[in-house]
Amino acid sequence: MAAIAVSLATSLTSAVVPSSLTSFVFNKLNSAPCLRFTFSVSRFSSYRGGGKLMAHSLVRATLGLTQPANIDVPKIALSAKEIDVAEWKGDILAVGVTEKDMTKDDSKRFENSLLKNLDAKLGGHLSEASSEEDFTGKPGQSLVLRVPGHGAKRIGLIGLGKSATNAYAFRNFGEAIAAAAKNAQASNVGIVLASSGSTSNESKLNIASAIASGTVLGTYEDNRYKSDSKKPVLKSVDILGFGTGPELDKKLKYAEDVSSAVIFGKELVNSPANVLTPAVLAEEATKIASTYSDVFSATILNAEQCKELKMGSYLGVAAASDNPPHFIHLCYKPPSGPIKAKLALVGKGLTFDSGGYNIKTGPGCSIELMKFDMGGSAAVLGAAKAIGQVKPPGVEVHFIVAACENMISGTGMRPGDILTASNGKTIEVNNTDAEGRLTLADALIYACNQGAEKIIDLATLTGACVVALGPSIAGVFTPSDELANEVFSAAEASGEKLWRMPLEESYWESMKSGVADMVNTGGRPGGAITAALFLKQFVDEKVQWMHIDIAGPVWNEKKRTATGFGIQTLVEWVRQHSS
Ligand code: BES
Ligand code: MN
Ligand code: ZN
Repeated sequence: MAAIAVSLATSLTSAVVPSSLTSFVFNKLNSAPCLRFTFSVSRFSSYRGGGKLMAHSLVRATLGLTQPANIDVPKIALSAKEIDVAEWKGDILAVGVTEKDMTKDDSKRFENSLLKNLDAKLGGHLSEASSEEDFTGKPGQSLVLRVPGHGAKRIGLIGLGKSATNAYAFRNFGEAIAAAAKNAQASNVGIVLASSGSTSNESKLNIASAIASGTVLGTYEDNRYKSDSKKPVLKSVDILGFGTGPELDKKLKYAEDVSSAVIFGKELVNSPANVLTPAVLAEEATKIASTYSDVFSATILNAEQCKELKMGSYLGVAAASDNPPHFIHLCYKPPSGPIKAKLALVGKGLTFDSGGYNIKTGPGCSIELMKFDMGGSAAVLGAAKAIGQVKPPGVEVHFIVAACENMISGTGMRPGDILTASNGKTIEVNNTDAEGRLTLADALIYACNQGAEKIIDLATLTGACVVALGPSIAGVFTPSDELANEVFSAAEASGEKLWRMPLEESYWESMKSGVADMVNTGGRPGGAITAALFLKQFVDEKVQWMHIDIAGPVWNEKKRTATGFGIQTLVEWVRQHSS
């Protein structure tokens, strides 16, 4: 067979780009059930860079000539230490306090013993300042004091609220510590809770891990597209008062692995659509497979191959774009041992959603944000990266993305066109802007064909879900109570907010077509529900399936950045199935 000529598009991460991608021969590739590795070369052109014609390196010229900078994500060393808090030396000692911890006795001294001791060492400074500045321990509140002449240069009190009990609160606590560290240009911080309570060993581990990932993620800033940027200074985090030992070390390593995957996911979503095309998304997926080649095999299908598989629904959406579609399939198999569960994660991968002929117009349509319409695929590929690092035994996991772009052109689908999905079902497209479900239809059929017993899809699917649940809660749709329990417990552990929504079958009425098996939109009422009912048409009944609509939480409007939503929950769910 002739060597496959492959050109590398933009490298999105700091990984070194191999000079020749003919090195796509992964250990496991030969055992992959279906092996098709095709890249189209025709769309890559030579590029004039720095005055030199790089004809042979075949770097693709990006529209607008933007290339993300290769900024290394700085590593933060996480370690658990068992030393007296008053003896800790470093830039900031951050103390997590609840509102209850802040209660003071008649002589205005702390009742909490840790705070009382610190305050005594500081000559009453801490109690004084907290009263003066009205620090009461509310979530998000922080008070940082310079304390010259002590082991710690600064002491920070960080509010945990009434009582911090869940991962969400501890992750926010970690983020507040990161913000305090940034303000103070601190390169090391010590973290301790004023009252550790009578928590079990397991919940201690979970709390430490949530704090650690909050701190790491709060420190990270995506500066790849800025011409000038400061590097974060935080280098090390000491977790105090949680004990020490291999169990805690392992948990912190896990938090670090998952956090680096969340950062990867955020970078995918933040990348604009002129840089992150379907080809580049596929490239990023193959990079994961080559980095963890002991556990992954990769299959990338081009449009021709998708046509052979009769994916008319997906190809209909892709038809208007000059950036060709790439169907991405990564398969994870553990390094050794039997497989007890076969899982699949499917992500909506619209690198841009203009709406098509039903173009997104008017204020509030957010067309300029529609680069985030591949947030589901970022969650799925982020999870793949974490799982490549963690290598959980006993599970096979398929990661599937039908990546494409929803554009407008003479070759694109029209409103009213009828598409035929790969299971033979026909769809009358009454709205070209309901494209995500069309791509997911063929992706879900493909996932079922891989023999997956449980499938979770994630998608920025409907504005209606944002109207229902607001910007920070994802909508969950599933007929399976068992799968719902599993995923809600994973979400609880990872601090991501989900809310179960009804799959009201009677609403299917609005999805009936006069000429085809169904239409793709059923009108405004219950729009997130009818979208989920549409997806359900393409899933085998014997498969446990869940759809998560992440249209709200994919993006942080205040910080104008991606959130990496879903990755932590997905990885935790896979880990729960691992033996
Ligand atoms: N990608 C959008 C959904 C979306 C909208 C996500 C706003 C985040 C913010 C999706 O493809 C879409 O356009 N959905 C339509 C469906 C409608 C035509 C039935 C929508 O929500 O308006
Ligand atoms: Mn759309
Ligand atoms: Zn969309």
